[in-house]
Amino acid sequence: MSTNSNVVSIHLEDNIGTITINYPPVNALGQVVRQGLKQSIEQLNSDSRCKVIVIQCVGRTFIAGADIREFGSTPLEPFLPDVVNDIEACPKPVIASLFGTTLGGGLEVALACHYRVALATGLVGLPEVNLGLIPGAGGTQRLMRIIGVKSALEMITSGKHCSVHSLESSGLFDAIFSTSSDEPVSELAALTHTFAKQLISCDQLEVNPVGQRIVDTNDINWDDVKSAIIKKARGRIAPLVAFDIIKSTHLLTVSEGMNVERDEFVKLLKSEQSAALRHAFAAEKMASKIVSAPQTTQAEPMDVQCIGVIGGGTMGVGIATAALSAGLSVVLIEQTEIAAKTAATNIEKIIQGNVKSGRMNVNVAESCLNRLTTSENKQNLSQCQLIIEAIFEDINVKKELFAELSEICDGNTLFASNTSYLNLNEIAQSVSHPERFVGMHFFSPAHIMKLLEVIRTDHSSDVAIATAMFVAKKLKKIAVLVNVCFGFAGNRMFSRHGREIQQILLEGASIEQIDSALTHWGMAMGPLSVQDLAGIDIGCKARASKPLPGHDPGYFRPSTLMFENNRLGRKTKLGFYRYDEAGKAHSDPEAEKLIRAESAKLGIKQKSFTDDEIVHRALFALISEGLQLYNEGIVQRLSDIDVIWMNGYGFPRYRGGPMFQAQQLGKETVISELLKLQTEYGELIWPDVNYDIPQ
Ligand code: 3HC
Repeated sequence: MSTNSNVVSIHLEDNIGTITINYPPVNALGQVVRQGLKQSIEQLNSDSRCKVIVIQCVGRTFIAGADIREFGSTPLEPFLPDVVNDIEACPKPVIASLFGTTLGGGLEVALACHYRVALATGLVGLPEVNLGLIPGAGGTQRLMRIIGVKSALEMITSGKHCSVHSLESSGLFDAIFSTSSDEPVSELAALTHTFAKQLISCDQLEVNPVGQRIVDTNDINWDDVKSAIIKKARGRIAPLVAFDIIKSTHLLTVSEGMNVERDEFVKLLKSEQSAALRHAFAAEKMASKIVSAPQTTQAEPMDVQCIGVIGGGTMGVGIATAALSAGLSVVLIEQTEIAAKTAATNIEKIIQGNVKSGRMNVNVAESCLNRLTTSENKQNLSQCQLIIEAIFEDINVKKELFAELSEICDGNTLFASNTSYLNLNEIAQSVSHPERFVGMHFFSPAHIMKLLEVIRTDHSSDVAIATAMFVAKKLKKIAVLVNVCFGFAGNRMFSRHGREIQQILLEGASIEQIDSALTHWGMAMGPLSVQDLAGIDIGCKARASKPLPGHDPGYFRPSTLMFENNRLGRKTKLGFYRYDEAGKAHSDPEAEKLIRAESAKLGIKQKSFTDDEIVHRALFALISEGLQLYNEGIVQRLSDIDVIWMNGYGFPRYRGGPMFQAQQLGKETVISELLKLQTEYGELIWPDVNYDIPQ
């Protein structure tokens, strides 16, 4: 037995040389791992006692990819493509022993091995496109040689993490192990050792390198696949680059193909899209971290097993479904028995829909529904550790509700309101233990949307915040911690953005031009189509709860006009657009006419806009409001705003969020552009621009 480092060690037993990687948190392929792997392969190859080599990991996963932290700095030898080529060229059989999330470079290491065995619970994938990249260590070349071009293209261009189970018949694995052991990783090591021993006992020591296999292209129609990829990519370039590489190299040798792959990988690494997508990944990881005063220890979250949800409307049903799907028990309260039953039926419909679409298996669905209690009696909430209110937006009703809940539940229960704009500090006053009260602002549909704003009131304790963030993680949400202000971070910016859109409309841009300029730039939907979808009355009613800004006569006038004319959006088949029976949107000259008449009334001079000008104004409204939120301490960090906009408001991930855009433009440009807008429209709309943007 010998060891070459704490990170990568080797152990020889029964003529099997086991290379173990121990590089927390996810065994990423940092330089020390690449070096260790290379040396270990060399060492075991030259050791005559070793007949078979196993590559395994300890901790939470097999290798989860290249080390993202090294991207952007000068690459250090040995380079990953050389390491994987060394593995494949090893004349002794090399077995990869997979569990957890075998991703990116991790799967590329496994593909270069001569055998792959895996725990059935594992996930594998080439998610590089999610970082604006393509596989850069032979993934585009070897995967197609094992599972065929079509499946390889699907896996690489989607970036999906696929379950080992779903790939059972793909040819990717030589053995898949199911285990109910409490120590599945040790069990996997033992099973892999047995697999290796069998190779020796059966004298199966000839290697058959994947790189020498012929590519099967029988089932591929390149044009169809390309069209589908373009459609799904929605402006992202990496999936298309992956397609082009596979198409242009599938008849070449692996080493020729890898040269092409490497060149494109390096180009993409320097691209704006990859920078934005890597920022998005890092920003999401960061968002879950609570900034605390120096020398304070992070509060421990409370254990939450049962959640109470009050209100069985769309939000309540969505929140309950998310909690059930995360393995929690739910008590859902409605005002009447009938309403409670309706909510239960709606939850069941969503869960059964998940079963139908294959997202959930029947047993899990049954267990979800067994953990649901619906009732009209709030006394049933006493068993819950967290109660989330999702009733209609009336502050007095909410205050009464929390006062009542304070009587029913003991002082350990955590209370949360799902309000999207009401003053949580005021609501907190009606709670007997205001330190146990927070905001948890879900986005609709709550069982699908990833974003959750966790709102700290003036009284919320660190434990309450830590618990809300912990529950969010359990629900598989991306939680961002914010402080109290009207609309919190997301809706406050949405409102500022909306105001600017409406002003551009009043100044002469058409409804269609605004929507098409922003969707072409990458927004998931045009802002006026969004209003039609959400219901124009919703925003109008929310704005009515505050006095209208006297300095801004055009403030949301187009929406107000639509509302006054009963054009409430899709639900009335008329809004900014007209909708036909099939739900297809059509431009409506009547809507334009109403807006032009209003512009004339307000004395707004008409002008024409380029698409870039529309995008610029809309983006700068977000940048301006985002910087104000940061300066006011509403958000912990600028990147949290990006996380909110990418996950809750359809901001294109490949553009990294509005604050990333500001950072890319640079402080000087941002300040000078904001000053120009201030000069033209006044400082009440475009307030002081003396902002410090951390670079
Ligand atoms: N490199 C460095 N650090 C990584 C990493 C990576 N590839 N992947 C995850 N981490 C870090 C995270 O930043 C986080 O750090 P923190 O604790 O300091 O915040 C820690 O590992 C744990 O990550 P998560 O909180 O995300 O843990 P989860 O269990 O929720 O998810 C995961 C684990 C599924 C591995 C997820 O982190 C993930 O998807 N990682 C990215 C995987 C990836 O994209 N791999 C491909 C990289 S590109 C590549 O391989 C190029 C190659 O082709 C040449």
